[in-house]
Amino acid sequence: MRKIIIANWKMHYGPMKAGAWMRVFRRERLPKDIDIGIAIPHVSLAAARSSIGRASVPLVGAQNVFWQNEGAFTGETSPAMLKEFEVAFCLVGHSERRFFLGETDEMVAKKASALQKTGIQPIICVGENATEHKKGEALKVVKRQLLSAVKGLKGDGETAPLIAYEPIWAISTGKQASPCSPHDAKNMHEWIREILEKKFGKAGKNIRILYGGSVDPHNVADYLSTSHIDGALVGNASLDPQAFGLLCRSAVTA
Ligand code: 13P
Repeated sequence: MRKIIIANWKMHYGPMKAGAWMRVFRRERLPKDIDIGIAIPHVSLAAARSSIGRASVPLVGAQNVFWQNEGAFTGETSPAMLKEFEVAFCLVGHSERRFFLGETDEMVAKKASALQKTGIQPIICVGENATEHKKGEALKVVKRQLLSAVKGLKGDGETAPLIAYEPIWAISTGKQASPCSPHDAKNMHEWIREILEKKFGKAGKNIRILYGGSVDPHNVADYLSTSHIDGALVGNASLDPQAFGLLCRSAVTA
């Protein structure tokens, strides 16, 4: 399976900084045998897109979407609007949106389905918080989030979903050794794969499962060389374009 690395800038970089980031990143030597994408704030999509031009790397993605294509939904952005920027993928259900914006499993499911209908790949984020982790509820929580999100989706074709397992207790720790080791992540990824295969049959084998949580240039190879880990979703370590370039190169030394 071809691996994929996605940068999630979160709420960083307006149009000017996004354009500058892209211009530096485009000078980076990048591996050809992995996919690379950047999840960009909506307001910076135009600037990023114009800095990338016709280049196919990196893929342009968004971090959030609404589930209707137009209407009286003040402040929201529709899948059709994202499509105008040739957005290839969009994150849904990131734990920060679930926590700060009150996104529910039901909302995440509607967003994922609306994206697929518009021809955009949803990247569905799942993951347990520290309390659920300590109580031994991780498998149960992730299963609930995942089954709800993929309920109305098809599992194959160009808009097949990607899944990102992001244990909340391992996000932005700033430590080189993430509290969620590649081995810990692998166990959860195996569980996710089992659920996907049950739901989608053969197509479930090909859905890429990314790990996210304190991935950096030093540890990315350890994650990506572990079985069942098909990619990484990277927050902090993607904010510097040269460091992110290094991270992408380090990923393939595995
Ligand atoms: P960090 O890489 O900063 O831990 O963030 C992970 C994340 O939330 C990516 O979506």
